[in-house]
Amino acid sequence: MANNLRIGIVGLGRLGKRHAEALAFRTRHCELVAACSPVADERSYASAQLGITRVYEDFDTFLADPGMDAVVLVTPTSLHADQTIAALKAGKHVFVEKPLALNVEDCERVLAVAQQRPAQVAMVGFVRRFDPSYLNAHAAVAAGEIGRPFLVRSQTCDQNDPEGFFVRFAPTSGGIFMDCSVHDIDLARWMLNRPKALRAFATGTIALHPALAEFGDVDNGLAVVEFEGGARAVFYASRTMAHGHETSTEVIGTAGKLTVGEHAASDRVVRSDTHGVRHAVVKDFYERFEAAFGAEMAAFVAACRGEAPLSLTLDDALEATRIGLAITRSLHSGMPEVV
Ligand SMILES: NC(=O)c1ccc[n+]([C@@H]2O[C@H](COP(=O)([O-])OP(=O)(O)OC[C@H]3O[C@@H](n4cnc5c(N)ncnc54)[C@H](O)[C@@H]3O)[C@@H](O)[C@H]2O)c1
Repeated sequence: MANNLRIGIVGLGRLGKRHAEALAFRTRHCELVAACSPVADERSYASAQLGITRVYEDFDTFLADPGMDAVVLVTPTSLHADQTIAALKAGKHVFVEKPLALNVEDCERVLAVAQQRPAQVAMVGFVRRFDPSYLNAHAAVAAGEIGRPFLVRSQTCDQNDPEGFFVRFAPTSGGIFMDCSVHDIDLARWMLNRPKALRAFATGTIALHPALAEFGDVDNGLAVVEFEGGARAVFYASRTMAHGHETSTEVIGTAGKLTVGEHAASDRVVRSDTHGVRHAVVKDFYERFEAAFGAEMAAFVAACRGEAPLSLTLDDALEATRIGLAITRSLHSGMPEVV
């Protein structure tokens, strides 16, 4: 493709603004030409801060804009499936944030439409697959450096937010496992070479945010997943860390193990004094994964321009949802659940 990819973005909330700024100012071979949000402040931001002239309140009117090749959806999870389908049917390439949907049937509807349109890219935002450290670890696993990988222990732990943003988010997020652990689930499948998941067991507790109970959610959750062939995964998700954001993963194999992201250091300075040995910690997911978010958008643009195919598929996104749902069912039932 000789020309820049013309992109429209939907949703300019917490993450949408970050994606928009990356697309408008830091990603090559694309132009951010349109934006859509039902929120007036977000539309003003798009005009004033991003210099976008085609700003829409209504999603269907936005999609009818003929001057867009691709759409980036950063909207509440409960809207992902229908918006992805509508954008594909409008002939656009689609990037949609994770998770693809909150039930398997919605994922399957998206896959069916995407399969009818193989020339269009449909990508789900599993950002960790674009993180240099996770890519390094995956290459080492694929090269056999740790022998046969059979166990993944992975956690997504956010710093406690006394304002409780995620409590307001709870009605549309699908709960802590669908919102946070879905990244770890995708990582585990990626590192273990896509084994079929068989069974899941989960438990959890509310440590600091009782308002989550109304939504059947917890602020700290633990899950174990069994895969065909003997591989296992253990996931931990937390909203209440005191020290910062700590995403880390261990991949254990028959000849060694790899650890990614331990201790969540924000830089390479370590202070050693009479108080002990310590370093500063990343505050949130964006600080930890900023480079990966940039690489993810670059990969989307390259795929749409026909320059580099994606190894991350919609089928991966469907399986992550399927496993996340079984874990969530187990949290509610207190029993192991078939995936
Ligand atoms: N990859 C990651 O690590 C990561 C991190 C954070 C969030 N996310 C995902 O990004 C998505 C958005 O999360 P967020 O934290 O930015 O949420 P947010 O609530 O801050 O933003 C949601 C945005 O969607 C817009 N919106 C709501 N209804 C709409 C509609 N009908 N049509 C168009 N726009 C609409 C809102 O105006 C807002 O701009 C979620 O699916 C979440 O899972 C992914």
